[in-house]
Amino acid sequence: MISGDADFAARVLRWFDQHGRKDLPWQQNPMPYRVWVSEIMLQQTQVKTVIPYFDRFMDTYPDLAALAAAPLDAVLHHWSGLGYYARARNLHRAARQLVEESGGEFPDNIEAVQQLPGIGRSTAGAILSLACGQRHAILDGNVKRVLARYHAVEGWPGTSAVVKHLWELSEAATPQRRVAAYNQAMMDLGATICSRGKPDCGACPLQSKCSARHQNRQREFPAPRPRRVLPVRSVHMLLLTTDDDAIYLEKRASSGIWGGLWSFPEFADREALQDWCERNQVRTAAPLECWPDVRHTFSHFHLDITPCRVHMKDPMLSVMEAHRAIWYKTAQTEALGLAAPVQRLLVRVQKSNQGDTGYDPNGEMCKAG
Ligand code: ADE
Ligand code: SF4
Repeated sequence: MISGDADFAARVLRWFDQHGRKDLPWQQNPMPYRVWVSEIMLQQTQVKTVIPYFDRFMDTYPDLAALAAAPLDAVLHHWSGLGYYARARNLHRAARQLVEESGGEFPDNIEAVQQLPGIGRSTAGAILSLACGQRHAILDGNVKRVLARYHAVEGWPGTSAVVKHLWELSEAATPQRRVAAYNQAMMDLGATICSRGKPDCGACPLQSKCSARHQNRQREFPAPRPRRVLPVRSVHMLLLTTDDDAIYLEKRASSGIWGGLWSFPEFADREALQDWCERNQVRTAAPLECWPDVRHTFSHFHLDITPCRVHMKDPMLSVMEAHRAIWYKTAQTEALGLAAPVQRLLVRVQKSNQGDTGYDPNGEMCKAG
């Protein structure tokens, strides 16, 4: 169990008394229904945007019964522009459920509230604390950020271990009294002072004991979702060039990566590339040169390309018959659909033709065949 930090809540409350917003529409007459609607609207949308939507919604649906009686289409219409329409569908579904099953009263115990569509543990805690003064901890995105920074909580809060730890910290920090003001203050603090991009620590009531600030690591908390480790695929590409600055390109199959684009012939390894050269009777004018790998990253894997350059005296027309191929002039400006790394390699070939390889002279050079 994490021991409470009475000073923490006191600082947050003092800040709320001096700087907190107390004139928001849902703070006037904060009955559970109104607070519920506002919390759902605020889940993915900023306060400033929510205000006019909230006011119009309350004009049309002043209570649970009015919302439950409305057709879904009309409710969705009131939502248009707010986005994330599942929120409106859930709100409407929950209202009908409450009217049918509970006589149209919004429940005042947290288990029942949490079971309503679209309401998780944090939103349930927010509604019952803000509307009824019940003591519940909350942990929305804003509060997560403040706590993760204050306590320098390592790890991505998408894992259950990190979330559990943050809930314990939130529970421990939640005061016995003035919970509504405290929870509202924490959400406001996260939304305004301890913002994601640029926290204004100089204005923060928690600055003197904030671990992230002391370590100057504010931006590192909460840790982002870890990047998946992508698998690596390796291919060799044949850069077949001629004395008159032409380079051999094939049109790729319409399915698969770079479908329908022009590219260099691609091989699983060097042996396969050399086989191809022999089969097509490529007469080399210089030894095969393997250039350093070029990495191209797709969403699902890294493609490591080993470019292998083979220089020959004359373009061979025989090669072209069996493949959808062209001899491309590197100086040619005509638009061709080229895969991105192919385009970059073409530039290198051009530079290399001008005697500037741009490569480490110690890079691997290997003899053909
Ligand atoms: N985000 C979610 N609920 C909020 C609230 N009550 N005030 C400010 N931002 C919020
Ligand atoms: Fe966030 Fe800075 Fe306050 Fe720490 S001191 S809680 S990082 S605003």
